[in-house]
Amino acid sequence: MKTIVTKSYDEMSKTSADFFESEIRNNPEIVIGLATGSTPVGTYKELVRRHMEKGLDFSRVKSFNLDEYLGLSGDNPNSYRHFMNEQLFNHINIDKNNTHVPEGLTEDPKAYGEKYDQMITESGGIRIQLLGIGSNGHIAFNEPDDELPLGTGLVELSEQTIEDNARFFQSIDQVPTQAISMGMGSIMKAEKIIILASGEGKAEVISKLLNSGKVTSRIPATFLLLHPDVTLICDEEAYSGVSR
Ligand code: PGA
Repeated sequence: MKTIVTKSYDEMSKTSADFFESEIRNNPEIVIGLATGSTPVGTYKELVRRHMEKGLDFSRVKSFNLDEYLGLSGDNPNSYRHFMNEQLFNHINIDKNNTHVPEGLTEDPKAYGEKYDQMITESGGIRIQLLGIGSNGHIAFNEPDDELPLGTGLVELSEQTIEDNARFFQSIDQVPTQAISMGMGSIMKAEKIIILASGEGKAEVISKLLNSGKVTSRIPATFLLLHPDVTLICDEEAYSGVSR
């Protein structure tokens, strides 16, 4: 895993946008993997700016998002589909038919998950995948456990994740307890992975990730240590635990 430590959240976001811009300019028909959460917001802002000011063209880009809360429709303000529209898709020239966020209202998550993975494969596979990291080490909604799912499907959110995400909802009781998430195998198939971490709240998990020297399902992000092309971009606060 390559690591880039930046002075600030803004610099982390610009560095992350640099990777995406260069991949998109290199192949305008690229398939990209996208993430939700607070961390990628700055990357999306920067990509919107580069679209508006530098003509970065998304017209032939295809995207797949990592996850969606089970039970939320795409127009629910807390859904990840809504988040993606608001943060990115509504402000660039991507064809919405080419944007994929798992369907939160699916009645058959297992079959839907298999179909989602198949759609990724049929699109040619993800060239560059953006990831955040949970304070508990999750990637997408693959939560610490004895076993981790390979493919996309139904997952239970951990208590830590429900607590972490409650800030987006009116109360913690409203946070869905299940989601459709890309599995570890689906994520690991991406050719290139960019993982972002910002702020003191991620310092502990980043130090565990970089110092462990081990792969453990109790910190799902450690599986990224097995991938040949992963770049962690984190600000100084998120990195601060590594040398402590
Ligand atoms: P955050 O979430 O960006 O809101 O911290 C990251 C994650 O849970 O993957």
